[in-house]
Amino acid sequence: MSEQHRPLPDSTLSLLAEGYAWLPDRRRRTAGPAVRARVTGRRTTALRGPEAVRFFYDERHVHRHGALPEAVRGTLFGHGAVHTLDGEAHRVRKAMFTSLLTGPGNVAALTESVAGVWDEAAASWPDRRQVVLFDEAARVLTRGVCRWAGVPLEEDAVRDTARDLVAMVDGFATFGPRHWRARRARGRHERRLARLVEAVRDGTATVPQGSAVDAVARHRDADGEPLAPRLAAVELLNVLRPTVAVCWFTAFAAHALHRWPQHRGPLRGGDAAYAEAFAHEVRRFYPFAPFVGGLASRDLSWRGERIPARSLVLLDLYGQNHDDALWDEPYRFDPGRFLGRAPGRDVLVPQGGGDPRTGHRCPGEDVTVSLLRTLAVRLARLEYDVPPQDLRIPLRRVPTRPRSGFVLTAVRPPA
Ligand code: HEM
Repeated sequence: MSEQHRPLPDSTLSLLAEGYAWLPDRRRRTAGPAVRARVTGRRTTALRGPEAVRFFYDERHVHRHGALPEAVRGTLFGHGAVHTLDGEAHRVRKAMFTSLLTGPGNVAALTESVAGVWDEAAASWPDRRQVVLFDEAARVLTRGVCRWAGVPLEEDAVRDTARDLVAMVDGFATFGPRHWRARRARGRHERRLARLVEAVRDGTATVPQGSAVDAVARHRDADGEPLAPRLAAVELLNVLRPTVAVCWFTAFAAHALHRWPQHRGPLRGGDAAYAEAFAHEVRRFYPFAPFVGGLASRDLSWRGERIPARSLVLLDLYGQNHDDALWDEPYRFDPGRFLGRAPGRDVLVPQGGGDPRTGHRCPGEDVTVSLLRTLAVRLARLEYDVPPQDLRIPLRRVPTRPRSGFVLTAVRPPA
């Protein structure tokens, strides 16, 4: 029996146990152009590399409807979310996100909102015995994004809302308590935001024109119909939740500054090009989204590898960001690799590949880079101690982070 036709054992448990290392490890042990496996009972082909990105994001090859397990829709993205649409339905829904999240005005407004909240919060850190950066950044981002989006948020609800938005990301790839926490958190916020959308529509609540709440409430889908309130809430959460998820990259940025303090100087000095390069390298180097997946639209062939219709196709994002065919010394943290050189569209893929307007690539990439740049500079300017703590970043946990959440003590105000 040829290698391609031998029945494969199901790898779902190995995937859950090995996390980020699962695909790259299989890749190292595979001679062919793609990793073949079976995941949740489905035949699976995993690809990587810029050409694979173009193949994967071609809608004639891979579609998304029916690809995501319910466990992921019920926690991370929400039922009926833009992530699960194809064709015209996807393009019309996606346009709402790109018009909200791209363009210098939008990106700057959201960044300024978060930076303002950070500065207020950081002013109180010198009075605190310790600051757990991951948690603190989640609260700052929650306040900043809600303010920008037009979502009312009472001061005493910030802590719980931040915890819930983090939980929705933290619980999607496990079946333990983190998963159930994520489902409950999602339910609470979908209900609350659906009521807000209804109130905006019937005029009992007002929100700034052009804000995310306003855009979602007024949006009409490809069929000309407004989104049902619960679906509008799902999509509003698809703006709030991933913005708050920048707290993972904030903790990673602090980790990088601690391990390689030579990057502090240029960031402190306000070197904008360096800050941008640092943000890209944090997104490349540290593990966040392991892969994305879809279903083969028909029988396909990738470099001679047969991909049957309806089988699962994965794009190995983490593996590609550490592929030594694409990156010189991929396990070295080096912002210099992006200095004077914009990252190739289909080479650096922490937030997906292809064109964000037509495909499923993340529409929040400019926002992420801008927030990360701004917060990294603020972190570099802050004086603090890093007490003994568990800074390991376990690759088996998805999503992972420094175990301690990155604790700062003896915070001194910026000079
Ligand atoms: C899609 C990662 C931040 C909104 C995605 C995808 C990834 C990703 C891997 C899937 C791409 C695909 O399916 O091909 C990240 C990471 C972020 C981040 C690691 C950093 C924390 C953001 C932000 C926003 C956002 C800040 C909005 C404010 C979205 C939306 C989609 C998406 C709406 C669905 C796009 C579609 O299906 O067409 N993101 N993202 N993300 N992201 Fe992000």
